[in-house]
Amino acid sequence: MEKILIITGGNKGLGLGLANQYHKNGYRIISISRSKKEKLYSEEQYHCDLSQSETIEATFTEIFSHLDKNNTKNITLINNAGDLGNVNTIENIKPEEINYTITVNLIAPLILSSLFIKFTKDWHCKKNIFNISSGAAINPYEGWSTYCTSKSGLDMMTKVISKEQKEEKNGVKIVSIYPGIVDTEMQTKVRSSPKENFKSVQKFIDFYEHGELTSPKQVAEKIYHLDESGELKNGVILDVRNF
Ligand SMILES: NC(=O)c1ccc[n+]([C@@H]2O[C@H](COP(=O)([O-])OP(=O)(O)OC[C@H]3O[C@@H](n4cnc5c(N)ncnc54)[C@H](OP(=O)(O)O)[C@@H]3O)[C@@H](O)[C@H]2O)c1
Repeated sequence: MEKILIITGGNKGLGLGLANQYHKNGYRIISISRSKKEKLYSEEQYHCDLSQSETIEATFTEIFSHLDKNNTKNITLINNAGDLGNVNTIENIKPEEINYTITVNLIAPLILSSLFIKFTKDWHCKKNIFNISSGAAINPYEGWSTYCTSKSGLDMMTKVISKEQKEEKNGVKIVSIYPGIVDTEMQTKVRSSPKENFKSVQKFIDFYEHGELTSPKQVAEKIYHLDESGELKNGVILDVRNF
């Protein structure tokens, strides 16, 4: 019986850490992103730009055409891909930039979660969704209006879907995770934001200079343990720094 991980952005950063961690533990890894990682853990890397939301259903349908519900022990979807967006005050962010960030960070996870639940409705295995959210969902940083809004929306999506799924016989469990400050390309982008656009930039530079960033591997180990432990409480919002 197979254990399957479907992850967005499994090719770099935190997503790659997660893909490696699940792969190490015998999972089949299916990753969705724009670029590919050279044969590190999986041949199953699907090209999809999540900002093109109308293309997501075809990609996911293709993925599921290669899966066998009778040969699956458990299946996890991790909505990990994310984009910081244009860091600036809202009047300086273009309409198309607003649209891009909200689509990648929020609309794509909504569509993917919808399809995941629909396609696995009659699968009698363990089914989990992890949404990689952020402390930015509850901390309003000036300059991050699109990012904070999208992560806040992701948390509400988690809460609503968990209530819907609790009514189902073999429903999906869904949680939001705040990964902390992780040493990835996104943090490099955060630190390089001009101070006039992002007042909190020094705080993130200090985190880096004081060695306070965690590695994707460390965060991935914690998330994997949570997935495997069977202790997952449906609908909760968890900060990795607290478990
Ligand atoms: N790093 C942190 O400190 C931190 C803190 C809190 C939350 N997070 C969250 O953690 C998640 C992972 O972030 P990260 O730090 O690992 O960032 P990252 O290094 O910038 O990686 C982002 C990932 O998302 C994918 N992606 C971005 N835009 C995409 C698009 N339009 N279509 C498809 N895939 C796309 C990228 O792949 P391609 O470029 O190949 O498409 C890449 O795999 C994000 O949701 C982020 O908001 C990170």
